[in-house]
Amino acid sequence: MNTSRILTRRHFLKNTAIAGAVVSAMPLFNIRAQGAGRKFKIGLVGCGGRGTGATANIIEAAKSLGHEIEVVACADFFQEKADTFAKKYNVAADRVFVGTDAYHKVMAQKEIELVLLATPPNFRPVHLEAARAAGKHCFIEKPVAVDPVGARKVIALGEVAKQKGLCIVAGTQRRHTGTYLRNQNAVAQGAIGKITSGTISWCGNKLWFKEREAGESDASYLVRNWPSFLEMSGDHIVEQHVHQIDVTNWFLGRPPIAAIGFGGRARRKTGNQFDFFSVDFNYGDDCHIHSMCRQVSGCYTNVGEFYMGTEGSTYGGGKMQSAKLASLTIPEFKTHANGQVQEHVDLLNALAKGEILNGAKDVAESTMTAIMGRISCYTGQQVRWSDLMTNAESPWYNLTLAPSAANFEGGTVVAPKDDVCPIPGVA
Ligand SMILES: NC(=O)c1ccc[n+]([C@@H]2O[C@H](COP(=O)([O-])OP(=O)(O)OC[C@H]3O[C@@H](n4cnc5c(N)ncnc54)[C@H](O)[C@@H]3O)[C@@H](O)[C@H]2O)c1
Repeated sequence: MNTSRILTRRHFLKNTAIAGAVVSAMPLFNIRAQGAGRKFKIGLVGCGGRGTGATANIIEAAKSLGHEIEVVACADFFQEKADTFAKKYNVAADRVFVGTDAYHKVMAQKEIELVLLATPPNFRPVHLEAARAAGKHCFIEKPVAVDPVGARKVIALGEVAKQKGLCIVAGTQRRHTGTYLRNQNAVAQGAIGKITSGTISWCGNKLWFKEREAGESDASYLVRNWPSFLEMSGDHIVEQHVHQIDVTNWFLGRPPIAAIGFGGRARRKTGNQFDFFSVDFNYGDDCHIHSMCRQVSGCYTNVGEFYMGTEGSTYGGGKMQSAKLASLTIPEFKTHANGQVQEHVDLLNALAKGEILNGAKDVAESTMTAIMGRISCYTGQQVRWSDLMTNAESPWYNLTLAPSAANFEGGTVVAPKDDVCPIPGVA
């Protein structure tokens, strides 16, 4: 077992504190902020539910700070989605772009300084790469990849973006929510001692799905029905449960060293995903976290995180049992009640002050952690962090799911078969 990630308590506290301090103190190369009363010109790629929601969130955030947002351009796979969004946010007709290469046209708009990337996750690494090349700050929805190659690409892009003074804020809203920020700060100060175990879950109802229409192309079917296909979403342990996994990596200050899990498919009608996953994430230093996620209606539902430490326990954003808490000084984190607004408040504040806020590595590592759990459940094997991050000999290091973003752009999409999923021990 790779124990290189095992940290001493001193390192743990130091690293957790570092993980919480996301505002970089790096030299600034891209100071365009002018203080209060700025107009931020933005573009959106992916005009669906979250893209439209994130636009409303950033407008509300800007308003609360005395700034203004102008939506200059938008892009979507479907004309109708792009037009609906453009109408809502007054985007000029000649700045509404459609197709799998439409994101290039948003990036080409020189006046845009910030882009929101909210397509299905399989496109994120490629879209982020284009945004970085065009020198745009980014808001990127989670998760940020569907395979190890994509997640490593986002980590690398994030580092280069940082050097170039570009902000990247991710849609992991718990990191921008007061209750979570307070608990993470307390944990980093040792309020519950060393975390030794925990349980995290997203057990909820089934999501929406779409059936193929007569004569529909494979690309259109996959885009419309993306939450049902591994190659588009990463499966729901990645697409949805990444939120709890992200909180866990944040609270522990490190990703796990290995995962071993199981899962299965029982009730889905379309696509190729599992319905449920159960994973033991081994964080090293004798710390194990049980992760479970399920998308089956009519069952017990629970979404949240719970951690047990040597000197107490805590829920992610809830109650903490700690004899030490009263003696600690926890900063007051005054945040908007909605973390999805606060993440934009933090982004706009950083831009206005000329600071670099860059969470690409955090969200990419959380995405990779979820991918590690998924691969273990699909194959029935133990998967180590090193298998995905450093060990090029591992069978999973170069795993790239297809159809990929390049297949979509090249017009070579072949949809995977519906209702055929991996069989552990065989896959
Ligand atoms: N942070 C959160 O709590 C949260 C909540 C919901 C969704 N999300 C994430 O947001 C992302 C989008 O989810 P959604 O619910 O908005 O899905 P959606 O299907 O409503 O929207 C996705 C949009 O992207 C468009 N699209 C697909 N491929 C494209 C491409 N190559 N170029 C341009 N447009 C393309 C689709 O046509 C669609 O309009 C996902 O990564 C999802 O996990 C995050």
